Amino acid sequence: MVHVTMTVNGRQASAEVDPRTLLVQFLRDNLRLTGTHVGCDTSQCGACVVHVDGEAIKSCTTLAVTCNGAQVTTIEGLAQGGKLHPMQQAFQDNHGLQCGFCTPGMIMAAVDLVNREGPNLDEAAIRHGLDGNICRCTGYHNIVKSVAQGAREMAALPKAAE
Ligand code: FES
Ligand code: FES
Repeated sequence: MVHVTMTVNGRQASAEVDPRTLLVQFLRDNLRLTGTHVGCDTSQCGACVVHVDGEAIKSCTTLAVTCNGAQVTTIEGLAQGGKLHPMQQAFQDNHGLQCGFCTPGMIMAAVDLVNREGPNLDEAAIRHGLDGNICRCTGYHNIVKSVAQGAREMAALPKAAE
């Protein structure tokens, strides 16, 4: 067993874990943050995307120990002060989800995309930026609309939005 400690959604979290423990297992099993999903386990679907030190990563293929000392944000950490993050609100406003299984990963990937590329994203840029995320319900049309709105509204906010 190894000791791992990281800051998750602004709170320190520590545990003794098997060295093989994946970040998604640490988040879901140790911290009960079950908003991060596992859809494939092979780094293809994006359901497990979280932010580590401000960048989107697939937590199903990241060892928890490699995040020792890191700042981790999950879908549960996006809303602030009881208010949805603009990207979450945009998915709600545009019906950017059907079953919702892919949604946490889509939103985390979309926030990262806007942080990297800025808010002026056309449809092609959004589709390209989210090509590591699969929606099995195939709701891509409304997902793209959601990300476009979320990007615009993130631009109107102070940089603290994450
Ligand atoms: Fe991580 Fe599918 S569960 S990419
Ligand atoms: Fe069902 Fe995307 S909404 S998998």
